[in-house]
Amino acid sequence: AFIVTDNCIKCKYTDCVEVCPVDCFYEGPNFLVIDPDECIDCALCEPECPAEAIFSEDELPADQVQFVEINADLAGKWPNITEKKDPLPDAEEWDGKPNKLQYLER
Ligand code: SF4
Ligand code: F3S
Repeated sequence: AFIVTDNCIKCKYTDCVEVCPVDCFYEGPNFLVIDPDECIDCALCEPECPAEAIFSEDELPADQVQFVEINADLAGKWPNITEKKDPLPDAEEWDGKPNKLQYLER
């Protein structure tokens, strides 16, 4: 599956959701996740993310491995999102800041 990682937190641009052919993105207050059971590995979402926060599980940077479990867990708890919306207000400011997991709102 593809995995949404740290740099989505506090940005949530949502460009990714528009291209997903199986609508497998789920939305929390300041982050999105992909349901690994629904993702068909089409790779369409990866280049759409302005924050470059989406990776194939096979190419996940070592420091992002914890997001495999986070995506699987939160996909079962959050509502589906299929249409792009405005990013979070301070998205540009937060884009690229490291270690945003501490700010994740569940
Ligand atoms: Fe959806 Fe394809 Fe991205 Fe998986 S890889 S989340 S199926 S767009
Ligand atoms: Fe997040 Fe990138 Fe989608 S910032 S909401 S993974 S476009």
